[in-house]
Amino acid sequence: MVSSWVLDVLRCPETNQKLFACDLGLIRSGDGSFFPDRDGFTSLVYPQELVGNDEKMNRLYEWLAPYYDVSERILGRLLTGVDMQGGRQRIVDLLGLKRGMRLLEVSPGPGVFHPMLRKQLGEEAEIVSVDLSLNMLRQCRKRHASERIELIQANAQNLPFADESFDALFHFGGVNLFSDPARGLNEFVRVVRKGGLVSWGDEQMSEEFTHPIGRRMLPRMNPGFNELPPAVPVGVINATKHVVYEGLGYLFASTKA
Ligand SMILES: C[S@@+](CC[C@H](N)C(=O)[O-])C[C@H]1O[C@@H](n2cnc3c(N)ncnc32)[C@H](O)[C@@H]1O
Repeated sequence: MVSSWVLDVLRCPETNQKLFACDLGLIRSGDGSFFPDRDGFTSLVYPQELVGNDEKMNRLYEWLAPYYDVSERILGRLLTGVDMQGGRQRIVDLLGLKRGMRLLEVSPGPGVFHPMLRKQLGEEAEIVSVDLSLNMLRQCRKRHASERIELIQANAQNLPFADESFDALFHFGGVNLFSDPARGLNEFVRVVRKGGLVSWGDEQMSEEFTHPIGRRMLPRMNPGFNELPPAVPVGVINATKHVVYEGLGYLFASTKA
């Protein structure tokens, strides 16, 4: 069951109606439809039937969840040489998050940023992470329970939150391959308050990345490395693009207008 502050900002991802808690951990909308609890996670996925890349990538991530860190370590050793932990700390530093901010993290995977986000925002801050993959959320719960981050199953392209619910939104690692990246970015903007932080990033190989085998192999394994990021959404100002992970990724940090 979600906590009361989350319930307050939760909305039906289809109709945007307010949601209410009821027995057995279920969430009910005003029109009488129910959203299930899946293995202890409030599940607000819309549409239920995934299409296009969402369906393909979700199958991959459900399978990959328990091995995410191991595969990253193997790839790191063989193909990138990149210090991923150092790269993550740099990303969190670039966000400029302030203590006590209310943060929505979209697509945490197994929670690789959770300890750094909690440390940066402080014990009292309200943080919620949403991911489409139930197995990724299970990994978050298993490894990062002590970070006390609220976990919800949802699709980034139909976020189950009221407009302007958060001071800041952070997403890394999924947007390039969403079925509809522009829709995802518009959702990111919608749920952040005016003047708040809207930040997103994903893989993109730049000149700074020089590992000879990685330069050849990574784009073959994931075409996203050679693609341009989606266009900056309407409704943000001061969008700044940073090169991260030693030339393997990009991060946009912007302000909601
Ligand atoms: C490559 S992982 C990134 C995890 C982590 N943020 C990181 O930087 O390592 C991509 C994550 O995006 C999630 N994801 C993919 N499509 C999504 C969608 N439409 N809505 C929400 N999460 C999604 C996947 O389930 C997976 O956990």
